[in-house]
Formats: sequence, structure tokens, C-alpha cells
Amino acid sequence: MRQHILKFFNPETNLTITKSNLHIGQLLKYEFRVRNKSNLFKVTKDFFKLIPNGSPLKERHFSTCAVVGNSGILRNSSCGQEIDSMDFVMRCNLPQIEGYEKDVGSKANFTTMNPSVVSHNFGQWRNKTKDDYDRLLRRLKQVGDQILYVPALTIAFGEEYVRVITQVVLQHKLPMKTAFPPAGLNNLIKKIWTNPGLKISGLRPSTGVHMYTLAATICDQIHLYGFYPFTKDKRGRALRYHYYGTMEKQIDKEAHNMQEEFRVFQQLHRRGAVVLHSETCN
Ligand code: CDP
Repeated sequence: MRQHILKFFNPETNLTITKSNLHIGQLLKYEFRVRNKSNLFKVTKDFFKLIPNGSPLKERHFSTCAVVGNSGILRNSSCGQEIDSMDFVMRCNLPQIEGYEKDVGSKANFTTMNPSVVSHNFGQWRNKTKDDYDRLLRRLKQVGDQILYVPALTIAFGEEYVRVITQVVLQHKLPMKTAFPPAGLNNLIKKIWTNPGLKISGLRPSTGVHMYTLAATICDQIHLYGFYPFTKDKRGRALRYHYYGTMEKQIDKEAHNMQEEFRVFQQLHRRGAVVLHSETCN
């Protein structure tokens, strides 16, 4: 898988846009347009400050990695200790960790955050309360000096949330290393996964597929936890969509095809390219 993926994706050059070929005021095209919204994203002075000079994963390599998805299957899994024992831990969409440490661990070396997470998990931002702001700040502080990966250039409706993230990080001088994937990554990843036998249809590969793709280039052994896009576990017990919170969201079949992705991960598991954990850990 590493050899195959490296033909298309290089974590040193494709992980993030860098300062070297950008300037303040530049207009960047989003990968996906939204009707009645501008398809251009403006590089403001503040945003420019957070663009790195180079990939934060340059020359990094790990023996064991955990990619932690957000499926409800993680509740009561007792997988926390096992996850934290991995050399590099990747988490998706700034998930809640506090209160779930026993099941999901607490280590996070790489955390993704779709801009829309600001409104989905931290209140309706336009009517934000001080409490919403404090919760977002508190959660971003937990990233510490590790990597925060924000797909700011994917879809045209995230601009105001990117501004919010930028403002919080700068105002509070948060020490994280930020990374912003270039527009076009979704199509690149779709191309990678269109290899015969790994075909994934659906509009966009899910965050989990993006993270596995990245992990395959920098990790020798990859463990997936919280990848289980079903409403019931193997014993027929009802599962939440996410392990945290109370959201009853259903799988968004318009955006992703997570069940098809899951079947591909099962194949990769059988071929030894990943360890897919969908049982409890004790
Ligand atoms: O950004 P996205 O909607 O893809 O992700 P998310 O809901 O924050 O969850 C992170 C990842 O966990 C997903 O991209 C899936 O790979 C995985 N997941 C899953 O397999 N089953 C679920 N019920 C929820 C998430």
C-alpha cells in the first residue's frame, strides 16, 4: 500500500500548503463549489501566519500508529490504553476525549478538524455564547504542540469557521503546528483508491480514508479503531453515530460511502495492510 500510495501522495509535499508559494491577499480555489457562495478563499494576514513553511511530518516515520475514527463502537471498548501505547495517534475532527479516556485514550499527535466542526460541536456559531467559545478554546488547548490539520480549502461554506479557528489560535498563542491540505486532495485520494479491488465510490472519501492514506506513507503498522459505520454492533446492540456527545446523526450517504470503505478496510485487514479493531480491547 505504501508503494502504491507514494506514487500519488507524498507527505512532505501534499500534506499542507506552505508559505513559499503563497502571498497575503491571494485567492485560492476551493475543491468543491457551493451554489450561491464564492468559490474563492482569501489568504488573509492572520491565515498566512498559520501556514507552515514546510510539512510538519517531514522526515517523520513511526513504527506503530493508531488512526482513531469516531464510531459509537468505541463506547465501552476499553481500548484507551492500547491506543495510547502506539507511537503516533491520529484523531478525526477534534473529537471529545475528556470523559472517554478509558475507551479512546488521550494521546493525540495529529488531529483533523473540518471547519464545520466549529458549528457542529461548539454551538451555532453565529449566535455563539461565551460558553461555546470557551469550550472550543479549551479543546484546542488540548492539542498542545502537536499537529492540527484543517481542510480549509475543501468546501466553500467553511470560510467563516476557518476565520474563527485562526482567531482563537492566534489570540491565545496556541503552540500547535497547523497544516492545511491543498484543494484537489479529495480527487487525488479517490484516484489512489480506484486501484482495482479498492474502489470507493461516493462523493468524497471520508476523513478516515484520508488518515489511513497518510498513515500508510509514514507508519509501519497501522491500527484502526472506531471505524464501524453501522447502527448495530455484531450482537445487535444499537450504536451511536459518534462515541461522544448525544448527536443522533445518521451516516451521510450523500457525502461519503463509509460502508463501502469499511469493506475495503476489511480486505486490507485480511491482506495484512492494517489491523481493523472492531471488538473490545480487554
Ligand atoms: O469527516 P467525517 O464525516 O468523514 O468523519 P467523522 O464523523 O468525524 O468520523 C471520523 C471517521 O471515523 C470517519 O471518516 C470514518 O472513517 C469513521 N467513522 C466510522 O467508521 N463509523 C462511524 N459511525 C463514524 C465515523
